[in-house]
Amino acid sequence: MKNIVILISGRGSNMQAIVRAAKAEGWPCRIAAVISNRADAEGLAFAAQQGIATEVVVSKDFPSREAFDAQLQATIDRFAPDLVVLAGFMRILTPGFVEHYAGRMLNIHPSLLPSFPGLATHRQALAAGVKVHGVTVHFVTAELDHGPIVAQATVPVLPGDTEDTLAGRVLVEEHVLYPKAVRWYVEGRLSIDNGVVHIADAAQPA
Ligand code: GAR
Repeated sequence: MKNIVILISGRGSNMQAIVRAAKAEGWPCRIAAVISNRADAEGLAFAAQQGIATEVVVSKDFPSREAFDAQLQATIDRFAPDLVVLAGFMRILTPGFVEHYAGRMLNIHPSLLPSFPGLATHRQALAAGVKVHGVTVHFVTAELDHGPIVAQATVPVLPGDTEDTLAGRVLVEEHVLYPKAVRWYVEGRLSIDNGVVHIADAAQPA
């Protein structure tokens, strides 16, 4: 049984999609905790209702990024995670923290990486005039919104789109893609070779 710890900063809709899929599909894992860097993150209430342990580590209580990440790491590690899932966790992470979870930390980013890393991805996509946009799930490395790509999904950019309409179309895909990618990890199907993720076929039932 693998332990998963999910980090959120706000709404937590991707976290909810993962929790629901894990339960509905009977994944061989336990969502051990949901941790937020903001006490007012809406997603915490959902996690608590589901009987999942919740923790808050407030970033502004710490004098430096290193001090915050050290406390966050200690909090995460109390739950002995096999996988750390960043689900709308809006923090730049220190290299030491990222290294500690190398190969066992996933992130979702609302663009087709390597295009449009950082903030305001939908605004960036509209400004660039791309006709296809989307979402990426990737392993986390020290470089922001980079790292071996596990899965991507695309959506069309339509005439008249605003940031909100585009974000909404992407979010629908996020809620399908992230549970799928986390499930692959839980099933032990992901490997990384020279920065490229390979996805093994599902094990055949004996
Ligand atoms: C999602 O769209 C996620 O892809 C994005 O924040 C949103 C969180 O929504 N993440 C990033 O931009 C990370 N760079 P949620 O809290 O409802 O899952």
